[in-house]
Amino acid sequence: MERDRILIVGGGVCGLGVGWKLAKAGKRVVLFEKAPLRTGATWVSAGMLAPQMELKDEEETVLRLGRESLRRWKNYRDELEADADMSVDYRDDGTLFAAFGRDDVTQLRELYEDQIRTGLEVEWMSGSQTREMEPCLSRRASAGIYSSIEHQVDAAAVGDALIRAFQKCGGEIRDHTSVESVLIEDGCAVGVQLEGGVEEGSAIVVAAGAWSGLLGEMGALSPAPVRPVKGQIFTVQQPKEPLIRRVIWALLDGEFVYLAPKSDGRLMVGATVEERGFDTQPTIGAALKLLRPACEMLPGLRELPMIKWGVGLRPGSRDNAPILGKTTVERLFMATGHYRNGILFAPVTSEEVSAAVLTGETSETIAPYSLERFQK
Ligand code: FAD
Ligand code: GLY
Repeated sequence: MERDRILIVGGGVCGLGVGWKLAKAGKRVVLFEKAPLRTGATWVSAGMLAPQMELKDEEETVLRLGRESLRRWKNYRDELEADADMSVDYRDDGTLFAAFGRDDVTQLRELYEDQIRTGLEVEWMSGSQTREMEPCLSRRASAGIYSSIEHQVDAAAVGDALIRAFQKCGGEIRDHTSVESVLIEDGCAVGVQLEGGVEEGSAIVVAAGAWSGLLGEMGALSPAPVRPVKGQIFTVQQPKEPLIRRVIWALLDGEFVYLAPKSDGRLMVGATVEERGFDTQPTIGAALKLLRPACEMLPGLRELPMIKWGVGLRPGSRDNAPILGKTTVERLFMATGHYRNGILFAPVTSEEVSAAVLTGETSETIAPYSLERFQK
């Protein structure tokens, strides 16, 4: 019997982040990953830390959590880089949202007014100010919103750093090991069922990303209401003198596209948002949807070599907000449903879910995000 171990299901930013903090607190932690490491949504992500630009249509409570996590990111970065002994390419150049056509400017203005009403820190820019900030943008750029507090990281580097930090703190990773279900006895989580047998644990954390619902019922709890939301994104290599320096969101003839430049010259251009189940095929339709507006807003893009086409499955909950903290099953905890913002939410998820496992209590910060809200 090895019941003094904490078991984590899933090796993405959520599972690794919670695992790192628990291992650092001196706990024995075993993380199960069904696939090879580095294959989940985390390694496809654009790494933007952008609650204000991203969450415009979401609930205000999600925006609040995103802003809280953004506030924590710099300290989180410092601690993670120190423990992993590597950089996660945190860049604090802010985020620009540019509009190109007349209707796009009207839509951007509405967004800006909403943001101001909500008390967000954004600045309206004329077309010339927008182009001055990013001179390679097309002359069609007619207006912009600048957010000086929304930054970015290299999400794949964050994932890599979490693997290193977790292992350096004594965490154990078992990849190619799928968890079939969570074992519950008398209303209490006691272990996980693997293909080859049972592993017992003192607490179980479900962090299985888009696959979290496939674990099925967990005692009296219905399966976690999480669906896969397909995202396609491509990466090009910028020249030594980069075309753009900060994250740019664009609204061009009604199409949204974003560009996230990394310090090593990669430029990520994304992303589709598709309800296609677990399908991960790259498609020509997605290429057209992303490339046409991207090349029109940034004409120099046409000349750049394409180096990667990524497809990932975002874990979207029924209300698109994360599912965090303890559940009504004793010793069962959730860290899933992070949808479009799992990298942004990394500090809050790592810190608050690990604290919930250690204390058995859910903090006020994550109380509105419990699984219970779906069980009523
Ligand atoms: P994952 O990283 O998918 O990890 C879950 C892991 O669990 C997987 O490796 C899976 O194999 C494993 N697993 C599943 N089931 C089992 C099982 N039964 N047993 C064992 N292992 C299992 N977020 C941002 O904050 N900023 C962005 O700019 C951003 N851009 C994005 C762009 C795209 C194109 C996509 C697709 C996503 C983007 N996201 C972004 C969202 C972000 O990537 C996700 O919210 C986040 O990575 C989710 O992390 P996770 O750990 O829940 O899932
Ligand atoms: N957060 C960017 C995306 O999900 O595409």
